Amino acid sequence: MTLSLSKITADIGARVLGVNPADDLSDETVAQLRTALGEHKALVLDAPGLDVAGQERFAARFGPLTTAHPTVPGGETPHVLDVDAEISKANEWHTDVTFVVTPPAISTLRSIVIPPYGGETLVANSAAAYRSLPEPLRAWADTLWAVHTNVYDYAEPRPQRKAAEAAYRETFESVPYESVHPVVRVHPETGERGLFIGGFVRGIVGLSTTESRDVLRLLQAHVTRPEHVLRWSWQPGQLLVFDNRITQHYAIDNYDDQPRRLSRITVAGDIPVSVSGERSRALLGDSSHYSAVPADAVPERSVAA
Ligand code: SIN
Repeated sequence: MTLSLSKITADIGARVLGVNPADDLSDETVAQLRTALGEHKALVLDAPGLDVAGQERFAARFGPLTTAHPTVPGGETPHVLDVDAEISKANEWHTDVTFVVTPPAISTLRSIVIPPYGGETLVANSAAAYRSLPEPLRAWADTLWAVHTNVYDYAEPRPQRKAAEAAYRETFESVPYESVHPVVRVHPETGERGLFIGGFVRGIVGLSTTESRDVLRLLQAHVTRPEHVLRWSWQPGQLLVFDNRITQHYAIDNYDDQPRRLSRITVAGDIPVSVSGERSRALLGDSSHYSAVPADAVPERSVAA
């Protein structure tokens, strides 16, 4: 059987037709989904009847799962992160959990409650962003490294943060993590190069805060070019699967105070590798409870702590 795909845009996104992720999928279907993800970066599946156990089963076909989050406890199961507008709105461009040394490879988002208007998720193709850079900038970006941390402006600060949001932010930042990743990451399966930056970046190694901000603004403008972005308008009971190694995403806060709930389950990823073959390093925090991390990637001061 060949997977039936319908492209959503030229650069990113495809709908997968005729595959219900709640079903017991064959190895061949899973292999085809993996290939399609490599090509389109984000896939959308209709998922009638998919519950949390089914989402876990589906995600686990792509590799070992992470726990919900390094600092935020799981929801219905230890692998599920509740994405709930009541407590947090991820309205900043980011790649999931890049503050640890092994950010997830794949993220799955299942829609549960969707507002009557707005609440779309944007997903950007950071390989297309890299390719769109002029050659001298690409060559320079290949050499840069960035420090990522969870103690950072992850979501836009809003003037009147509700108590629940403030508590969530406190939990999110309760254990500080820092990792240094290449600004250009080579995808471990496809060999494609992509910009690996986003909202958890605190600065570029060797540059001042102002210089970092300017360089990141320049690179990020290529990530968020409209041509590189999928804007997904949800219906309840859908599954969005994106390759977290080569995308960024953003949850648009355009639905007033209406409820919006999704559940997120992520597949563990490897240590990012730069164009010159160097691996990312953990600077602070032991994330081995979150995702399998080779021992040599855990900073000594965290092991001793
Ligand atoms: C997330 O950043 O994991 C959630 C994205 C969304 O709410 O659409």
